[in-house]
Amino acid sequence: MYKNKAIMIAVIIAIVAIFVVVASTSVFDHDSKERYGDVSTPESEATMAEESAVAPAAVMDETTEPLAQNDAGGINETVTEHMEDASEAVPETVVEEAIVDVVPEPAEESQPAASGGAIHIVTAQGLKYEPLVIKIQPGDTVAWENMPTHDTQSLEGLIPEGAEAWHSALGENYQRTFTVEGIYVYKCTPHIGAGMGGAIIVGKPVNLAAIIAADAKGAEGRLAKKAIAEAQAM
Ligand code: CU
Repeated sequence: MYKNKAIMIAVIIAIVAIFVVVASTSVFDHDSKERYGDVSTPESEATMAEESAVAPAAVMDETTEPLAQNDAGGINETVTEHMEDASEAVPETVVEEAIVDVVPEPAEESQPAASGGAIHIVTAQGLKYEPLVIKIQPGDTVAWENMPTHDTQSLEGLIPEGAEAWHSALGENYQRTFTVEGIYVYKCTPHIGAGMGGAIIVGKPVNLAAIIAADAKGAEGRLAKKAIAEAQAM
C-alpha cells in the first residue's frame, strides 16, 4: 500500500515538474515572439488563426501521451485520476504557452496550410501595393484587397515560362492561386505611371536570370528591380 502511494506521489511530482519546465521554456519563446515578432499584418493574423486551429489537437497529444504510458505501467486508474488533477491545477496561461511551443515557428510570410495553400493578402494603399514583393509557396493564393480604382495585370516577359498571364477586373478584389514557381511582376494598369504594381515570388525564383535579361524600363523596370533584389537575397 505504502509503496503504491509513494509511486503515485512520485508520478505526480514528475508530471508537475514537466509542466513547469515546459511552461518556463515556452514563456521565453512566447515573450521574444511578442517583442520581436512582426507587426500584426492581416497575414500574420491568418497564421494565428491557423495556429489556434491546429492547437487543440496538439494539446490532446500532450495529455494522451502520459496516459498511454500509465496503461503500460498497469496502475492506470488511480494515476489517471491524478493526471487529471495535475492538469487541472496548471494555470490556463501555462496551457496556452504550451500550445505556442508545439506549433512550428511561423516564417516571415504565412505558411501553407496543412490542407491546400495559404492565402496571402495584398492591400492597395494609395497608389502602392502592400507588400510590394510577396514570397509564397506553389499552391498558395494571393488575394488583392481594397481595389476600388485598381486592377492587376501580369507583365509580359516578367513571369515564369509556362505560367498563365492574368488581368483582373478594374475596381474589384481579386484572388489568384500560383502553381508555377518563379518571379511574377505585375502592374496596376491605371497607375503604373505612378509606379503602382508589385511582384510575387512563388517558391524558388527560377526565372531570375530571365527577369534580369528582360531589362524592363521605367516603372516596370523599377518593380522588376525590387523583385530581383528580393530574389537575390533568398
Ligand atoms: Cu492602382
